Amino acid sequence: MTEIIKVDPENPDSEILKKAAEVIKKGGLVVFPTETVYGIGANAFNENACRKIFKAKGRPQDNPLIVHISSIDMLYDVVSSVPRIAYEFIDKLWPGPLTLIMKKKSNVPDIVSASLPTVAVRMPSHPVANLLIELSGCPIAAPSANLSGKPSPTSFEHVKDDMMGRVDVIIDAGETPLGIESTIIDLTKDPPVLLRPGPLTLEQISRISEIEVHKGALGEISLDKPPSPGMKYRHYAPEKRLILVKNMDKMKAVLRNFNDPIVICPKEHKEMYKGYKVLALGSLEREYSIAHELFKILRETDKMKGEVVVVEGFPEKGILFSVMNRLKKAASEVIE
Ligand code: TXA
Ligand code: MG
Repeated sequence: MTEIIKVDPENPDSEILKKAAEVIKKGGLVVFPTETVYGIGANAFNENACRKIFKAKGRPQDNPLIVHISSIDMLYDVVSSVPRIAYEFIDKLWPGPLTLIMKKKSNVPDIVSASLPTVAVRMPSHPVANLLIELSGCPIAAPSANLSGKPSPTSFEHVKDDMMGRVDVIIDAGETPLGIESTIIDLTKDPPVLLRPGPLTLEQISRISEIEVHKGALGEISLDKPPSPGMKYRHYAPEKRLILVKNMDKMKAVLRNFNDPIVICPKEHKEMYKGYKVLALGSLEREYSIAHELFKILRETDKMKGEVVVVEGFPEKGILFSVMNRLKKAASEVIE
């Protein structure tokens, strides 16, 4: 049985959230909102509870989890050393959509880190996530709350579709503000390495430190030796075949090959695809709206008729670099 607990995303009532915190304390699973996407959480120090996360998601056990904290004290509970550069990132960007990889303390169970000597940590800024961690009194290990391989959930409806009956509690706090998962930086390398681009852009993090961009962050996945085990799996995939067309000028020619394609493009380009089924993905004038709507639109295509989804590519700068990373991973084909 899954209990649904509804809270005000901006001003959560701690009496209501205490119920969810009790479930975490007792080793249960709670789906909770963060500023990026919903996560499926368990007490990070409880090995059995964390094991249940993998089962609920159908996640391969070699894909480690992110540990969510609500205070710097909690950081020292999970990492064995904090490199100096970490404080630069922490001071400027925590709480927020930034995950930092550091050396793990031995009290963090191996199931959380997939037996790596490192652990991924993030301090979310969402008031509900924050209060839940605080009331639970422990760091919360949580991957995104989708079934493995599906787009990350950015609304209560998505979570319900994927997780009803699989977890103890779902906290309903409406839509998540950013809609795309956190930026991940590996601080065990010098210079630090960007493993996954996210809401904090390469331009923003490069102002703090020199950064190397991993191939996987570009969407070019190496199957042999990914630095993050999660990189080798196909992600965010809608049920239909998805074709990403990087060069907009080729869109019409690609579309002509299919019977009843679904087109995804920014609002401004809708008119160009008259006669086709078109889903508008945000506006080029508000690039964060494109990130915000991405996973919702990908999920919508599952409910529509047709065999193929053709997506117009975006320029790979700023937040749209992160959007393109997700699209490349979701795509079955990329046309240059
Ligand atoms: O915004 C987010 O990050 C959301 C919310 C819930 O916080 N969480 C999220 O988790 O996206 P998940 O599990 O879907 O993605 C975590 C990524 C995976 O690609 C995993 O491989 C990587 O983090 N990761 C975790 N621990 C790692 C480690 N020690 N070294 C390298 N990569 C790691
Ligand atoms: Mg995920």
